[in-house]
Amino acid sequence: MFTPPPFPAARPRRLRRTPALRAMVSEAVLTPADFIWPVFLTEGEGMETPVASMPGVARLSVDRIAGAAAEAAALGIPAICLFPYTSLTARTEDCAMAWDRDNLTNRAICEIKDKVPEIAVMTDIALDPYNADGHDGLVRGGEIVNDETVEALVKMALAQAEAGADILGPSDMMDGRIGAIRQALEAEGHTHVTILSYAAKFASAFYGPFRDAVGASAALKGDKKTYQMDPANGDEALRMVARDLAEGADMVMVKPGMPYLDVARRVKEAFGVPTFAYQVSGEYAMLQAAAQNGWLDGERVMMESLMAFKRAGCDGVLTYFAPAAARLLNG
Ligand code: PBG
Repeated sequence: MFTPPPFPAARPRRLRRTPALRAMVSEAVLTPADFIWPVFLTEGEGMETPVASMPGVARLSVDRIAGAAAEAAALGIPAICLFPYTSLTARTEDCAMAWDRDNLTNRAICEIKDKVPEIAVMTDIALDPYNADGHDGLVRGGEIVNDETVEALVKMALAQAEAGADILGPSDMMDGRIGAIRQALEAEGHTHVTILSYAAKFASAFYGPFRDAVGASAALKGDKKTYQMDPANGDEALRMVARDLAEGADMVMVKPGMPYLDVARRVKEAFGVPTFAYQVSGEYAMLQAAAQNGWLDGERVMMESLMAFKRAGCDGVLTYFAPAAARLLNG
């Protein structure tokens, strides 16, 4: 790294003096094409139900989803990611609704691919929205079982691929799921479907508002520490990324985002593959809450936080701010 000469040969403030000079030497670039927009789905018609712990976010019924997707596409956002708030009757011990062709997510995929084919549709692969226990995997005798869960996730993945999903997002952190899903996609002729693996997903308290949004908070028994990662572990994150890439992931994700930018940077440097971070519900909630109280300038912290992902080396970011930030970027 170049060592700057001593003062006054170097006066770094020279290049900060005017907006034009600052623009010339600006490094990272943020555009609407960097965003993946996570959206919550709900049953019913004409529904737009606000999520209390995520000001500005609402759950949309399937008849409203194409409108949202069209708006995102018009703003230059390339992808939308779907999360279902399922009815209580859809939550069972066997999680069978997860691979039902007509479940909430699969109906929404069809609707978007029919009406707004240009936007990429990403899904979530994990059993929690369909699980009576609120866990991402099947629970047998108090244990979250791995291999049986992977079989269920494969069925879930195939149903989403058949509905037309472009990007599958396994977020469950079971071992062996990427390989099993990739093999099944190949066998069933879905050779073009991409996998964006939640490769380094940490057991985080920042998911709290999300669990409200999908109605999993009340159901969840215990925590997810036997499958999601220990926040202390950076080296392990690299091993998880290596494994998921070897098993057939096209892209990888680090999650949460802001508290884990060091991990995102290490992943990008070590592997050079498309690397995404998820600015999760709790990150969104804390910025929005502070802004609503007048403690932070909401627009500025939104843009600063999103730029930080680009500076860290991310190719993109999943963010609930996507439409608002895209609108600002588009002027
Ligand atoms: C489900 C899933 C979670 C999130 C995305 N997929 C929650 C969890 O693992 O408990 C969190 C997203 C967010 O907090 O915004 N497996």
